[in-house]
Amino acid sequence: MHRIVVGVTGASGMPLAEKVLRHFAGMGNLEIHLIVSSGARLVMQSEFRGGDLSLERHAHAVHAIDDMTAGPASGSWRHDGMIICPCSMSSLASIASGAGINLIHRAADVTLKERRKLVVIPRETPLTSIHLRNMQTITEAGAVIMPFSPAYYDCHTTLDQMVQHFAGRILDQLRIENNICARWRETIEVAC
Ligand SMILES: Cc1cc2nc3c(=O)[nH]c(=O)nc-3n(C[C@H](O)[C@H](O)[C@H](O)COP(=O)(O)O)c2cc1C
Repeated sequence: MHRIVVGVTGASGMPLAEKVLRHFAGMGNLEIHLIVSSGARLVMQSEFRGGDLSLERHAHAVHAIDDMTAGPASGSWRHDGMIICPCSMSSLASIASGAGINLIHRAADVTLKERRKLVVIPRETPLTSIHLRNMQTITEAGAVIMPFSPAYYDCHTTLDQMVQHFAGRILDQLRIENNICARWRETIEVAC
């Protein structure tokens, strides 16, 4: 089993978070620790519109956003990487400052200080120089900024296929073996 931490913050993209989590859960070898910010819960009200799309059902453990006693708040609690999907510009700024004011920001800070992999899926457009500087700051501290940018050469026709490919590429960043994404010159041989 690989233990991963997934933070969900209040940017647009709750359906993306749900689909990525669903693909992770489907792997069967990932122990998923989920942390959802208060901002994310607000955005969910707009983006799930009462549908049965809870994120929690894909997680093995759910940690409260203000629980600084939870495992992910400590460097001695081991995991194989953290993902923030989607990451708001507010959370990005907090991580870049090292403030650690909630469990997602603290867990991200701890992930970086322990030199573990932090993959951040930002969501905002267009970007200001402030956003870009914050992305550069956390990249220099070891994070990977990974916008959701579908690979059209994979001939995917549905959003779900695009998200499945993306979920696999996130796991690649965490060096977690997976076959959920198609691979150029391995499983993708012909041009569309
Ligand atoms: C419906 C909705 C959509 C939002 N979309 C974004 C977004 O795409 N990117 C962003 O940075 N903030 C977005 N926000 C603003 C954040 O939710 C807000 O800055 C919040 O304080 C983020 O807190 P958190 O990072 O702790 O979740 C959105 C807010 C709402 C209500």
